[in-house]
Amino acid sequence: MRLDLWFNQVMPNSPYETFLEHYPSYSSSAVIDDLRRTSYSRLDRTRQVYLDFTGGGLYAESQIAAQNKMLLEGVFGNPHSSNPTSQASTLRIASARESVLRFFNASPDEYVVIFTSNASGALKLVGESYPFAKGGHYLLTFDNHNSVNGIREFALARGAGVTYLPVLPPRMRADDARVDEFLSKADPAHPNLFAYPAQSNFSAVQHPLEWIERAHASGWDVLLDAAAFAPTNVLDLSAVHPDFVPISFYKMFGYPTGIGALIARRAALAKLHRPWFAGGTITVASVQGEKHYLADAPAAFEDGTLDYLNIPAVETGLDHLRSIGMDLVHERVRCLTGWLLENMLEIKHANGLPLIKIYGPVTTEKRGGTIAMNFVNRDGAVIDHTYIEERANQVNISLRTGCFCNPGAGELALGITSGELATCFRRPDHEQRLTYDEFRLCIDGKASGAVRISVGLVSNFADVEAFLAFARGLVQ
Ligand SMILES: Cc1ncc(COP(=O)(O)O)c(C=O)c1O
Repeated sequence: MRLDLWFNQVMPNSPYETFLEHYPSYSSSAVIDDLRRTSYSRLDRTRQVYLDFTGGGLYAESQIAAQNKMLLEGVFGNPHSSNPTSQASTLRIASARESVLRFFNASPDEYVVIFTSNASGALKLVGESYPFAKGGHYLLTFDNHNSVNGIREFALARGAGVTYLPVLPPRMRADDARVDEFLSKADPAHPNLFAYPAQSNFSAVQHPLEWIERAHASGWDVLLDAAAFAPTNVLDLSAVHPDFVPISFYKMFGYPTGIGALIARRAALAKLHRPWFAGGTITVASVQGEKHYLADAPAAFEDGTLDYLNIPAVETGLDHLRSIGMDLVHERVRCLTGWLLENMLEIKHANGLPLIKIYGPVTTEKRGGTIAMNFVNRDGAVIDHTYIEERANQVNISLRTGCFCNPGAGELALGITSGELATCFRRPDHEQRLTYDEFRLCIDGKASGAVRISVGLVSNFADVEAFLAFARGLVQ
């Protein structure tokens, strides 16, 4: 019998039965099991245990069929014209833009969708265009993706202050009382930007969306990084009103890669100054007159020719998610995450020491389906994450190791201090260049990274049991 079917048999005292007792609402997502059999069959056919949904989502066969049909039947030209094939592309792009607004319940009067190459592209657009200046501030949580951290370079270059708001290990949430203390530091006479992830790509902590209005009230524009949140949670932009929301579509539904969006409030966009112009972003540009006039958003922020053959697949992907229901996806991911957490914590070495140290919340409250951890040997020493990855590779488990592009959360979780980092970075031989292996040597004796698993849209009980079996195999 196929492994996925076997696991889903409800046998008395089977792990699946216990799981259903603990998480009865999982049964309501049976439609996703059907979908996995019909439209994601390649996963089980190739015996892949895919546990990197925070890295990238997976596409359904139906999405690819729809894309093929469109490409085989339609004729699409460069949208920067008004000929018939160009208009065909323009219509598809407009429709995809509207579908993004609809999906996030964002009013077209309030929000604009700017297509980018990924969430990082959206973040760079904000960073390079935000009017950072002396007296102003860039505030961000320690827990942020590097593409949010990178905005600090724009802020520093223009004389703005940069402050990091800490999160507290081991559960990796910020002290809510201190958030207001940090927010009160803004001088409303200058531009101030506050950036944080709606869900951490390290710990899966869901930082409070209530911060958005508290920050607005204190004179901040808010950048809410929704790249890790959007794939399995409802983000309702009629209920919360962040100014800038970067996302990557491949994380939500696997295909297409190479397309993301900056969903931005019109009022906030008006404050941005683009540092250059490009094909497609202007109404008029003159060589002899040395003048250019930017188009209105979104065109002013979309450099060159959009990926007009793939942008229509964004609408297909969003329709796919909508047809399943984001609430259902969210609940299924919550159940699988809860089962993983409770079982991982129970795995012990023969001497009673726990095998796994989890960085982040250990209950499903206000967290998503990503779990960061390290494996610890029976003497309490961390097992190198690269070894864990090698072992997982051998049994076709796709997980992620390292710092997941979130060094702030990693440093705090792993107890790497600013002093240790300064000593490492100030070494003369590390002035210009530092490889990851050299960095590991620098903080010798400490873990330099972690192991991350993440469940998503079509994860099932067999996937999480495969991981638990793998982990139990490491007990000493
Ligand atoms: C929270 C978060 N923000 C931003 C990004 C950057 O996304 P991309 O690599 O698609 O630009 C990621 C990617 O993992 C992420 O998880």
